Amino acid sequence: DDREARGAKGKAFSEQESWEEQQIRKSRLQFGSKDRGGASDEYELVFDDAVEFVKSAAAMAGTEQDHETDELTDEIDAKVTLQRELQDERKTLPVYKFKDELLKAIAEHQIIVVVGETGSGKTTQIPQYLHEAGYTANGLKIGCTQPRRVAAMSVAARVAQEMGVKLGHEVGYSIRFEDCTSEKTVVKYMTDGTLLREFLGEPDLASYGVVIVDEAHERTLTTDILLGLVKDVARFRPDLKLLISSATLNAEKFSDYFDMAPVFKIPGRRYKVDIHYTVAPEADYVDAAVATVLQLHVTQPPGDILVFLTGQEEIETVEEILRRRTRGLGSKIAELVICPIYANLPTELQAKIFEPAPPGARKVVLATNIAETSLTIDGISYVVDPGFCKVKLYSPRTGTESLLVHPISKASADQRAGRSGRTGPGKCFRLFTEYSYNNDMEDETVPEIRRSNLDSVVLSLKALGINDLVSFDFMDPPASEALLKALEDLFALGALNSRGELTKTGRRMVELPLDPMMAKAIVASERYGCSEEVLTIAAMLSAGNAVFYRPRDKALIADAARQRFNAGNVGDHIALLNVYTEWEESGHSAQWCLDHFVQSRTMRRARDVREQLEALLERVEIERRSSAGDLDAVRKAITAGFFRNTAQLRQDGSYRTVKSWRTVFVHPSSGMARVEPPARWVLYHELVETTKEYMRQVTELKPEWLLEIAPHYYQDKNLETPEPKKAAEAHLHCATA
Ligand code: CDP
Ligand code: MG
Repeated sequence: DDREARGAKGKAFSEQESWEEQQIRKSRLQFGSKDRGGASDEYELVFDDAVEFVKSAAAMAGTEQDHETDELTDEIDAKVTLQRELQDERKTLPVYKFKDELLKAIAEHQIIVVVGETGSGKTTQIPQYLHEAGYTANGLKIGCTQPRRVAAMSVAARVAQEMGVKLGHEVGYSIRFEDCTSEKTVVKYMTDGTLLREFLGEPDLASYGVVIVDEAHERTLTTDILLGLVKDVARFRPDLKLLISSATLNAEKFSDYFDMAPVFKIPGRRYKVDIHYTVAPEADYVDAAVATVLQLHVTQPPGDILVFLTGQEEIETVEEILRRRTRGLGSKIAELVICPIYANLPTELQAKIFEPAPPGARKVVLATNIAETSLTIDGISYVVDPGFCKVKLYSPRTGTESLLVHPISKASADQRAGRSGRTGPGKCFRLFTEYSYNNDMEDETVPEIRRSNLDSVVLSLKALGINDLVSFDFMDPPASEALLKALEDLFALGALNSRGELTKTGRRMVELPLDPMMAKAIVASERYGCSEEVLTIAAMLSAGNAVFYRPRDKALIADAARQRFNAGNVGDHIALLNVYTEWEESGHSAQWCLDHFVQSRTMRRARDVREQLEALLERVEIERRSSAGDLDAVRKAITAGFFRNTAQLRQDGSYRTVKSWRTVFVHPSSGMARVEPPARWVLYHELVETTKEYMRQVTELKPEWLLEIAPHYYQDKNLETPEPKKAAEAHLHCATA
């Protein structure tokens, strides 16, 4: 068979168009003769059985069905109808036609690269096909990784629904600080970070029969590391099936990386998309986006709108403006249903984006990059693309990582435009010029591994016993400068010794699913006798940035309420601790949250995170102790983790980072932004770059602590004369060890 021959040679299954067409014809023939939707029939049967059971039970109870049974029957009937609809919908997805071919290919090859347009059903269907085909019969799981937590949760929910099971039973998801799986779980969606952590406990992934690295085209840092690890595992576990799934056609690179693994292409359906550019560059793309949405809404025929924005704050701003503006127009225009979607959106609101708008209304989805490929929302006819996204940029030289709004690549712009042409012809409104598209935008997005801080992954790799990082099989190797910097940082944190080996501190840090600096702060809290406090701070920082809310009409009261938590003006870390402590004392009261302009959702999440960290603390044998009001102890523990993030006040009110000499500012959301006189020395959690470079979560610091806590990193001269000092080179030799 010539396809097999090509498969064996390793190149694309479907290099030739004609083969794809053949397959479509073949599969059409197949399901013309017999319906192969095995499992769907099964599920329908289960429900039909249930209906029969209820009916016969009612019959036994008396000739007349009572009310309750009636309702029950109705409910079951509704469920059966929904199931039927879902099963029918499944069959309309492009991947369905290739089900048998795909299963055959998977049976014949250990590693396959699956490529298909977004929305073709790769993520939701392929794990189900494998499950139906018996890949879980041996008690092994199918794992499917997603770069984004929202995608992992929402896809798992959808698949559970399609399979007619409760989420967390046969189908579940696992993301950091939230494990929604059980003994029963055989189809498990998770973030790539979760699978990376699972490697630490199960280096051969023994509980998995199939691993799907999904959305591989996104090339997140963790995905790239995972690719290297699963490639290695596949070598000594010939029974493990590996699927690398990607939305873009640039699959050759994955195939090459996996020793010429065959590429299985699922041809998508794509309708024509009209692209419109602005004639001149937009001064403010948020304003432009709002104006475009409103204009589309009043002038264009039915069809939902998808707007790509860069983050939660921007989405909330646009949401608010849109609400205000449409309210102003009242009943003069049709209803506009506004649906935001971003990483931290509470689970209960996520489902809303998939619900169709009521008749006569139009839905506008305000999304981050998540809607570019990870999530498919049906019914989108118009895309509004300002052409920006938030990217992480890391400078190994200065050791600073910043999140900044950056123009997207051409590949991204095309992908975004394509979201409007899934169910019919679409229109894409680019809020940038055609000239800019052709001349300013990069072709492809640079893989994250080339622009990230590597501290965390290097720590994980070291913990996996991968000592020789230089010869690790990276798909795109990180800059050696960045690798060296990571080794240096981990050495400075005490996680590695001078030979580059994991220390006891390092081993404890690995157990905590937190950034190495935060992990170190927790480990250090043992010495300062304040693990309870530091745990709370870590939980609050992990729970998201939205701790406080600030309604426009009560901004001043809200600010005052927030400032109260910053008692003694010692900083945001302690303020977060105070918020949590008071909330706990209130009995986790929602009313307390309302009264103090605190987001109760963030608080509940912080409590969940804290509980999990408590369990981990036990594992690394750190005693739970409170410093009983000694806040210096708490700040010292934080300093033990974050001593690299320090800055000194300058005359003009700005700050300068101590080691790298960057000009930074206190973020306006910080309680330290309005403190008089301003703190002379501060420590910050992170830098974010918007109009300026801002420090977020800022705490006052005593410079002598730096000498006490990180004498290997700071010398007197760093803290006295304002001289930049290059990072100590003394321990560079540990780099390649
Ligand atoms: O992975 P891929 O982009 O190929 O497609 P998918 O995520 O499996 O989506 C297939 C279909 O499931 C799309 O039509 C989605 O709209 C639908 N879906 C959904 O309704 N709800 C979700 N949470 C996820 C997908
Ligand atoms: Mg997908």
